[in-house]
Amino acid sequence: MTIKPHPHRERRERHASRRRLWGRAKGKPLSAHQSNLVQELLPTLAALPGPLSHFGGAQSVSLEIGFGGGEHLLHLAKNEPNCGFIGAEPFLNGVAKTLAGITERELDNIRIHHGDVTEVMAALPKNSLDRIYILYPDPWPKPRHYKRRLIQEDFIAELYRVLKPDAPLYFASDIISYVDWALARILRHGGFEWTAESSSNWLTPYENWPSTRYEAKARREGRTPHYFTFIKA
Ligand SMILES: C[S@@+](CC[C@H](N)C(=O)[O-])C[C@H]1O[C@@H](n2cnc3c(N)ncnc32)[C@H](O)[C@@H]1O
Repeated sequence: MTIKPHPHRERRERHASRRRLWGRAKGKPLSAHQSNLVQELLPTLAALPGPLSHFGGAQSVSLEIGFGGGEHLLHLAKNEPNCGFIGAEPFLNGVAKTLAGITERELDNIRIHHGDVTEVMAALPKNSLDRIYILYPDPWPKPRHYKRRLIQEDFIAELYRVLKPDAPLYFASDIISYVDWALARILRHGGFEWTAESSSNWLTPYENWPSTRYEAKARREGRTPHYFTFIKA
């Protein structure tokens, strides 16, 4: 006999999983080449289980959260071949694009989690990452959607847990209400130091910055990118 969950419970559970991951999971249909990469290559590059186990001799291991089309992740991996990079992204089209970039550039230092970054973070030990990048997280600009934002108290606590002491957390956004939101919450946590000394610091792109697709759109539409660096105390 199959026991069906109580309908209210089922609804609550569906709601709980929706609450964890907002945004697009898929866009236009993948090309045959992209589908093939997702079927064949993605499983061989999966970050889970054991996200650190893939990077035995690496000088450092970094995480990019919501890498979109992978512009920044690919750039880092190409420039730092002796370092390991984990990227997490639930949007399938972005994952497929990044897989194509990995093969074109013949990179062997990226592992991908196609899904929610919190799953990767939960599998990481304390003090294990050398850098974390959160570049243009989904802004959710309407106040009634603020609770969907990635930056929340429990998420910041996880960022703190997985970063090594003295390691940087990079956060960039072009949406002023999110910039204020993130700054206030990350500083309120108490475990991060903000490195900025003047506005020129947070208005200047990170060193060796390749830009990203979302950033290019923000600039085209007249919004100002803000680049924050926090150090885990
Ligand atoms: C506005 S886009 C920016 C993408 C890219 N960083 C850029 O600058 O072009 C935000 C990305 O975060 C991803 N994202 C949203 N929630 C996420 C989560 N829980 N874990 C990982 N990525 C997530 C979205 O799918 C989306 O691709």
